[in-house]
Amino acid sequence: MGSPLASRRLAHWLLLSGICTLALFHYNQFLHTRQEVPVHVAKALDRCRSLTAIPGPPSDFHSRSTSDRFELGTNPTVLLNARIWTGEKNGTEVVEADILLDKGIIRGIGHVGRLLSRFDVSERDAVVRDVNGSWVIPGIVDMHSHLGDAPSPGLDGAEDDNSMKGPIVPWMRSLDGLNTHDDAFRLSISGGVTTSLILPGSANAIGGQGFPVKLRTTSERSASSMLLEPPSTTNSSYYDHNTPLHWRHIKHACGENPSRVYSNTRMDTIWAFREAYNTAKKLKESQDAYCAKATAGHFEDLGDFPEDLAWEPLSEVLRGRVKVQVHCYETTDLDGLSRISNEFKFPITAFHHAHETYLVPNVLRNAYGSTPGVAIFANNARYKREAYRGTPFAAKILASEGIEVAMKSDHPVMNSRYLLYEAQNAYYYGLPENLAIASVTSTPAKLLGLGHRVGFVKEGWDADLVVFDSHPLALGATPKQVYIDGIPQLDSPFTVEKPKKLQEAPKVPNFDKEVGDAIKYEGLPPLLTEKNRLTGDVLFMDVKNVYTPVGSKIRHSRLFRSVVDGEVFPPSVLVQKGQITCIGRCTQEKVMARTQNVTVIDLEGGALGPGLVSFGAPLGLEEIQAEKSTNDGMVIDPLTKVTPKILDDGEGGVVRAVDGLSFMGRDTLLAYRGGVTTAISAPVSYGFLAGLGVAFSTGARHKLEDGAVVRPITALHVHVGPGQEASVSTQIATLRKLLIDGAKHGAFQRVAQGKIPLVVHTHSADIIATLIVLKGEVEHHTKVDIKLTIAGGGEAHLLAKELGEANVGVILNPVRPFPASWESRRILPGPPLTEESQILRLLNHGITVGVGVLESWEAQNARFDLGWAALEAGDKISKEQAYLLGTVNMLKLFGVEEEDFDTPEKGLSWIGEFVATAGGDLLEFGSKVVAVASSRRGFVDVF
Ligand SMILES: *[C@@H]1O[C@H](CO)[C@@H](O)[C@H](O)[C@H]1NC(C)=O
Ligand SMILES: *[C@@H]1O[C@H](CO)[C@@H](O)[C@H](O)[C@H]1NC(C)=O
Ligand SMILES: *[C@@H]1O[C@H](CO)[C@@H](O)[C@H](O)[C@H]1NC(C)=O
Ligand SMILES: *[C@@H]1O[C@H](CO)[C@@H](O)[C@H](O)[C@H]1NC(C)=O
Repeated sequence: MGSPLASRRLAHWLLLSGICTLALFHYNQFLHTRQEVPVHVAKALDRCRSLTAIPGPPSDFHSRSTSDRFELGTNPTVLLNARIWTGEKNGTEVVEADILLDKGIIRGIGHVGRLLSRFDVSERDAVVRDVNGSWVIPGIVDMHSHLGDAPSPGLDGAEDDNSMKGPIVPWMRSLDGLNTHDDAFRLSISGGVTTSLILPGSANAIGGQGFPVKLRTTSERSASSMLLEPPSTTNSSYYDHNTPLHWRHIKHACGENPSRVYSNTRMDTIWAFREAYNTAKKLKESQDAYCAKATAGHFEDLGDFPEDLAWEPLSEVLRGRVKVQVHCYETTDLDGLSRISNEFKFPITAFHHAHETYLVPNVLRNAYGSTPGVAIFANNARYKREAYRGTPFAAKILASEGIEVAMKSDHPVMNSRYLLYEAQNAYYYGLPENLAIASVTSTPAKLLGLGHRVGFVKEGWDADLVVFDSHPLALGATPKQVYIDGIPQLDSPFTVEKPKKLQEAPKVPNFDKEVGDAIKYEGLPPLLTEKNRLTGDVLFMDVKNVYTPVGSKIRHSRLFRSVVDGEVFPPSVLVQKGQITCIGRCTQEKVMARTQNVTVIDLEGGALGPGLVSFGAPLGLEEIQAEKSTNDGMVIDPLTKVTPKILDDGEGGVVRAVDGLSFMGRDTLLAYRGGVTTAISAPVSYGFLAGLGVAFSTGARHKLEDGAVVRPITALHVHVGPGQEASVSTQIATLRKLLIDGAKHGAFQRVAQGKIPLVVHTHSADIIATLIVLKGEVEHHTKVDIKLTIAGGGEAHLLAKELGEANVGVILNPVRPFPASWESRRILPGPPLTEESQILRLLNHGITVGVGVLESWEAQNARFDLGWAALEAGDKISKEQAYLLGTVNMLKLFGVEEEDFDTPEKGLSWIGEFVATAGGDLLEFGSKVVAVASSRRGFVDVF
């Protein structure tokens, strides 16, 4: 807490005690003169007295013996042998102890015997769980979520998070839209999330009031009973001053969202704020004038206390009793809100999304009162102009400026089940370990004014805990159990035994140069220049692992140092013209004999492995999603729109993605620098027909560069699903017609002849079943096997056996399932909810599985998706197999035949590129991509 706030509190307190003394004085005078105090006067005085109270727990809060959220019948629980991250000492304290949970509270931390006797709990009543030294952290707190208000599966009747009634609607309340049947509650709990602040959306400048909830189902099953410390105004128009004063929350949004929705400019939006606060200020002033009069004893013509239900939330903001949560990205907008906070004198709790805050920490410090915190994504950026300068180093930079950093989900924008992964990413990119764990626990808890009961593992705090199968910052960390209010949330959790080294925080690369560049170039550092490219020989030293494609498999070789004639040779790999020419003992002398020009790169125990293939996002076709002028644009849907006559080919006008391709996009280059050397993109479509996809080099500078376009045509893409204007059956009928008697030389005929794959984007098991039938029908007709790939595949696991038998492959997208829509609601969630993950289930049925990404920024993380998939499956998916999911399998799914992998020009020359990582393997935290060696293009790019 900053000192300005502390001194304001003192001022408030003085004011408060001043008013009270004065009021009491007049009141006593009344009694003295034996006048009766009219009831309305007593009430008014009571009201006035309460106006300056500041929310927060009573001072004896931690001596409570029962939580207000305690559910009768919950047994005391003892966790033995926990390795506890407490949240204390700036997030550096780790304690090895037993924990007693009772009556919804963490009663004690220490030795079990002493705990039981100290709190008089009988051993017989207690559930005892030995967690065998597992990591235990506080329940995860998400300070920006739309759980319940934008529920899953998404249905038209249930998007309740944005009011469209105007830019200023402080009277709206997220509670009023909270659907208790959101499938995501259970899923987010399984990721360790226990408390979320449910905010209205960002369509409005002032979008309404937010409410913190705990995610568990309550015995009452109501939305109200999920609330954590709700203000008494939840039930009544005005405060009940006999109950503790709890913090309230309000959502503000600046910049693109509210401006776009109401066709406003930023100038209009800022004026809307000022006008609203001016109204609220008048209300507050009239209340203060009323109270000044009342406390001076002028009761005669006092009248009623000035109230206004609509503006009361904002006047409460002006009294400092509401946490102001501001969706705000860009410098202009951060500055604007900072000015408003000074004009009307209210503190801002946090800027959310806040992609440019790392560039302007002083703008945050300029805001009224204590410096706002930030609630950010780790690396979700560039989807609109406001987010274009986002950097994954923001968390580190802001923290080093002393600004409070919380990671948030914006669920369902990002599945909050994986909020911890955001903290892991922030840590990977430089946020210190203590602050990274705090960024999803104690930091958001404090920012929400709830740090006295959640976000810490301390005696007297709420019994919200997560027991993990590894260090919480290790990739793939999965809860073994989650407690909310002392109640275990997972019925029969499944987790696998994790390697011992994952019990410690992973070591992470040094990104000092990148951090400096992010600031120097205001978020747009050059990602690939002439200087990166080496055409000479490159010797990689201290290489620990090499993964090489052999046919359609990937072989792992562990390299060791060798000693010859007493001389030690660290394991090395030589690359000439982008091609690996020596593995093992490639001494510098050996190299020098061949060439005088060699660049030596130390991989510090790192690895070389094949470059990854990405599919699913419009890489190369979209730069800033929300900006049309930066994109290829949308394909005309021939099922519902008229295809221009000039385009009519009897197939609705099949287009090629290659014709719309742009190179050097930021997400494309970040993918390249993340080890994704080939991207496959389909034309962008919201309708039935997408068109022909393309495979291209993510590191190429333009289309005419050698090797830039890997395959101009990969597969034909269509979308089949509900929600389009034409019915699913109409879409299937169209597909049947085009495949069986379509144009004789068109793309559909090439599919029917088995020459290129048909990639059908769909999730529904019923649609997949229909497609399997259709495949048989077409093959019966043409007597040729057609190549069918399902992309999406949220429900594919329900037909794993049938897909395997029909030889239909699946690209899972998203890679970790989420019931976003009705057609993808029947997910196989994977550990800890089910033993098998979706990937494992499909692999177990012999299906060729690839992994996709939905949005362009995600492509750079493909390597962690693969590593995670392997970790989640224990020893059932090896690292080599995980590699296949992002390389060979992707090629197979786009038409490369098994036998082609032995023919270099057909098979792996598609990839033909190696990624060098320092400090570890590509698929694990701890490594950093330092170079791409391209035999396809004849050089090495060094980053
Ligand atoms: C908290 O930890 C961070 C990072 O480790 C450090 O920079 C900061 O100075 C610490 N703050 C305090 C108050 O110790
Ligand atoms: C601790 O070990 C026991 C015995 O192996 C096992 O049954 C139990 O599930 C383990 N607990 C946790 C939380 O891993
Ligand atoms: C709302 O009213 C119910 C019923 O009187 C009460 O149990 C609950 O505590 C009230 N909630 C708040 C936030 O005051
Ligand atoms: C050595 O390699 C560098 C980088 O590829 C290149 O710029 C330079 O021309 C080469 N020099 C010689 C002598 O080949």
